[in-house]
Amino acid sequence: MFSYNLGDGAELRPLEERYADELFALTDRNRDHLRQWLGWVDIKPNPAATSGFLRGAMLQWAENNGFQAGIWFNGSIAGVVGHNRIDWGNRATELGYWLGAEFQGHGLMTRACHAMIDYAFAVQQLQRVVIHCAVDNARSRAIPERLGFTQEGVLRQAEWLHDHFVDLAVYSMLREEWGRPETEDRTETQRRRDRVTR
Ligand SMILES: CC(C)(COP(=O)(O)OP(=O)(O)OC[C@H]1O[C@@H](n2cnc3c(N)ncnc32)[C@H](O)[C@@H]1OP(=O)(O)O)[C@@H](O)C(=O)NCCC(=O)NCCS
Repeated sequence: MFSYNLGDGAELRPLEERYADELFALTDRNRDHLRQWLGWVDIKPNPAATSGFLRGAMLQWAENNGFQAGIWFNGSIAGVVGHNRIDWGNRATELGYWLGAEFQGHGLMTRACHAMIDYAFAVQQLQRVVIHCAVDNARSRAIPERLGFTQEGVLRQAEWLHDHFVDLAVYSMLREEWGRPETEDRTETQRRRDRVTR
């Protein structure tokens, strides 16, 4: 089994169909938590839909269009991070992510995104990684901000969520910015602040 160690009991594994039961159970008990920010939670909420998502993820990888990774924490599946697709012509990608409510607050998604971004620049040789967050989704916005992304602007009414549109903040990281001292400093400064305030 391939896995990437994120430290402190956390790991990333490429998602495969054999994880369907675990992933469905996580999604199913978190529907209320996820509904506020994710539009897909009520579309076919059944195990077959989770299997379909996982088959799609394997196809995405086979077509060289990025991948979906599961985040495991102390042996339990905690959430998902993945590429929406890869724009090879412009060497760019966008990351999407979610965690079960009970797995928030451990830095799992920040660490998972850090690993995905390392991979994007070092292995996939991409130029640009983008994260879109609804402007009122403070926990989601904190992730690119913690990682030193630059906010480029706001796309007005860019995402339909169940019964209303939301504005999306656009964050980007460029290849030459990643790992620069000022980016690392911002991450470390935030970590120090997190330690002091906890
Ligand atoms: C968005 C989402 C993934 C953020 O989860 P999160 O737990 O806040 O993010 P992380 O896993 O990176 O954890 C950060 C938290 O852990 C703390 N933390 C602990 N150790 C840490 C570490 N090593 N590094 C960074 N943060 C750490 C941080 O202080 C922060 O806690 P705080 O919010 O109390 O300050 C989650 O809220 C979610 O899935 N929401 C619903 C779906 C969603 O909105 N998806 C995004 C759509 S754009």
